[in-house]
This record gives sequence, structure tokens and C-alpha cells, in this order.
Amino acid sequence: MLPSSLTRAITACLLGLALHAQAAGDPVAGRLKAEDGRCFECHGERGEGGAPVAGAEPKFAKLGGQHADYLVKQLQDFRSGKRANDFMRMLVRELDDADLRDIAAYFASQPLMQGSPQPGHDTGARLYREGDAARGVIACASCHGESGKTAPAAGGLSVPIVRGQDARYLEEQLGHWRSGFRRNSPGDVMNQATRALTDAEVRALSAYLAAPAAP
Ligand code: HEC
Ligand code: HEC
Repeated sequence: MLPSSLTRAITACLLGLALHAQAAGDPVAGRLKAEDGRCFECHGERGEGGAPVAGAEPKFAKLGGQHADYLVKQLQDFRSGKRANDFMRMLVRELDDADLRDIAAYFASQPLMQGSPQPGHDTGARLYREGDAARGVIACASCHGESGKTAPAAGGLSVPIVRGQDARYLEEQLGHWRSGFRRNSPGDVMNQATRALTDAEVRALSAYLAAPAAP
């Protein structure tokens, strides 16, 4: 039996997914639009993530191989302010939905993001796979898959690939979900999933997911 909070979270998630069916974009047009939009400067030409910039701590997401419908939703959410980031909002302000779909199709068609070796992550692996029922922490794997590499959902918004994502970006996003600063997941599933996590657990989960493969 699944705990009822988990059943509710998954139902909310699936409902959210069903509402977001999108038409496919054109990756060739998308590449040109991404270049015009200076996306490569921070996310890499193939969505492989940003190189460290002197004096700054880059927390740029990798976009390569990510599900196109997830990327479109994030770009729409930046544009509407539902996902708060002034810089990303400014960049996509002038782009229409067709532009966003093309750009998303381009990054989705690029090689899948690859992780890099990370320091120990036993706590991260356990929490990811099993959660912690006593504290209401839902197993991340129940939505993001055992490997963290979800398949795209047929005809709806996919749960994002998190395996191989940038560790600093993951840590920042998990912190944003936990504090409620980021609140654009269907039914607030990600806010619920992270509410009880400690800082050390957020770091452990981020290191675990940023590693190349599930150990
Ligand atoms: C100056 C650096 C910079 C540039 C240029 C930039 N981005 Fe971003 N992007 C960021 C940062 C920082 C974040 C994380 C925002 C947050 O914390 O929510 C981000 C997040 C994203 C995300 C969310 C990824 C995810 O996994 O949820 C997408 C999609 C994205 N950017 C696409 C684009 C596109 C498309 C362009 C070009 C139109 C672009 N970015 C240009 C810095 C940049
Ligand atoms: C009930 C399903 C569900 C559970 C459980 C869940 N997630 Fe998520 N997660 C999602 C969905 C859906 C999104 C995309 C939300 C959106 O539209 O922005 C997401 C987004 C994320 C993101 C943002 C990815 C990005 O590129 O910005 C991270 C990181 C993440 N989840 C990690 C986790 C971790 C770690 C756990 C366990 C503590 C977890 N998730 C549990 C469904 C879930």
C-alpha cells in the first residue's frame, strides 16, 4: 500500500502532466534561435552546462537530452514569472511559444547530460531510492525513476531527467523547492518532496544525482 500522501502527490503530478501536451518543435530552427538568444554562453553549445566563470559560482542547468516538454514548460514559467529568475525572464520575454518549442527541441536532441564523479553519496542514494516514511519524505525514484533518467511521457509533460545534472544547480534548486521560492511543480509535489530534508541531505542528494550513474 502506498501512503496516501504519496498517492495524492502522484495523482497531482499525473494530472499536471496530462494538461501540458505540446506540439513538437523544430531543432534546426531552434539551434539558430538559441544562438541568437545567447543561450550557449551559459548552458553550453550542446546543453552540456556552463564552464566555470572567473569570480562567479556558475549554477547553470545542463539542458542536453532533457525532455523537450519539460524545457518548454520551464521557459514558459520563466516568461510568466511562475518560476522566478529575472535574468531568464528577460531572455525569454520576447520569445513566443513556437520559439520556445524550437529551442527546447534543439537542446533535447543533443547528447544526454553526463555526470562527473562526486564524493561519497550513501545518504543520497538511500533517500533517493527509499525516501524516509517516518518524516514523510517520498522516494524520489517513485517519480524520477531508479536511474534518474526518466523516459519522456507520451503526450504530456515529462518528469525531468536529474541524473548527470550539475551538482551546484541541483543543490540550489532543491533548496528553492524546500523554501518554496520555486513553486512551479504540478500540485507542489517537489515542495512536499523536499520539505523535511536537512541541508546535509540536500547536498548528499545533489552529489548522488550529479554522479555519472547510480552506484
Ligand atoms: C547568463 C547566463 C544564462 C543565459 C545566457 C541563459 N541562461 Fe538559462 N539559466 C541560467 C540560470 C542561472 C538558470 C537557473 C535559474 C534558476 O535558478 O531557476 C537557468 C535555467 C534555465 C532553464 C531551466 C533548466 C531546468 O532544468 O529546469 C532552462 C530551460 C534555460 N535556462 C534555458 C535557457 C535558454 C533557452 C536560453 C537562451 C534563450 C538561456 N537559458 C540563456 C542562466 C542563463
Ligand atoms: C510525485 C513525483 C515526484 C517526487 C516524489 C519527486 N519529484 Fe522531483 N520533480 C517532479 C516533477 C513533476 C518535476 C518538474 C516540476 C516542474 O514542472 O518544474 C520535478 C523536478 C525536480 C527537480 C528540478 C530539475 C531541474 O532540472 O530543475 C529536481 C532537482 C528534482 N525534482 C529532484 C527530486 C528529488 C531529489 C526528489 C526526492 C527528494 C524528488 N525530486 C521527488 C516530480 C517528483
